[in-house]
Amino acid sequence: MSGSGGERPFVTLTWAQALDGSIASAPGTRTAISGPESLALTHRLRAAHDAILVGVGTVLADDPSLTVRYAEGVDPRPVVLDARLRTPGSARLFGDGTRSPIIVGAVGADRGAEAALEASGARILLLEPDPDGRPHLADCLEALYAEGVRRLMVEGGASVLAAFLAEDLADELVVTVAPRILAGLNPFHPAPAGIDAARLARSLVDARWERHGDDMVLRGRPRR
Ligand SMILES: NC(=O)c1ccc[n+]([C@@H]2O[C@H](COP(=O)([O-])OP(=O)(O)OC[C@H]3O[C@@H](n4cnc5c(N)ncnc54)[C@H](OP(=O)(O)O)[C@@H]3O)[C@@H](O)[C@H]2O)c1
Repeated sequence: MSGSGGERPFVTLTWAQALDGSIASAPGTRTAISGPESLALTHRLRAAHDAILVGVGTVLADDPSLTVRYAEGVDPRPVVLDARLRTPGSARLFGDGTRSPIIVGAVGADRGAEAALEASGARILLLEPDPDGRPHLADCLEALYAEGVRRLMVEGGASVLAAFLAEDLADELVVTVAPRILAGLNPFHPAPAGIDAARLARSLVDARWERHGDDMVLRGRPRR
């Protein structure tokens, strides 16, 4: 797979949303959206990827473990996009110390935070920041490829989903739609700060709908 010149992993962008597009009942809160059947699908999907990426906003809001629990399979390696290294060393994604999450930060991040996260078992990758102080996603993907990641699942949250879509870095979407209205946090509208709304508009090609319990799951390839 070719990114901004170098090799990059295949990227699956996945999230669970309510009918109105909300992925949480309010920004910064954890909301269980998927029913048990679609949750099991998500966990099978996790097991089919080498690594699973979330933004630090999701780590701080949800403290997810990012493991495979509702399906058989091996846990993917956790990856956190975290320019300023705000991930707590006590975060659940460190597991019982046997996992080595990759934290992707920006050059210039606090050295003390870097040392503390390394002491907790993290592998820290510091990349040149963009004008907003964040690592470029294309560089991040190349760095993950160099770490051995060939299939990457991107699971949120709102800003990270929008950033991957806006930069055309998603190869497949897998979206769970639950039969409820949350009127909460929508990842695409309004577009998160720093993202041009026009870059988010997409159609899906080869779109397939599957029913999983009460939820519908949409798979497809995003195209402008
Ligand atoms: N329903 C679902 O499927 C689902 C899944 C996951 C999360 N969520 C929800 O999503 C919400 C969290 O979303 P969020 O937008 O606050 O946080 P987020 O997308 O998880 O993380 C955003 C943070 O990531 C960091 N980051 C680093 N590089 C970035 C880049 N290139 N582009 C964008 N962000 C980058 C930024 O912090 P720095 O600048 O400090 O690096 C940014 O503030 C929570 O309510 C959570 O429950 C829902």
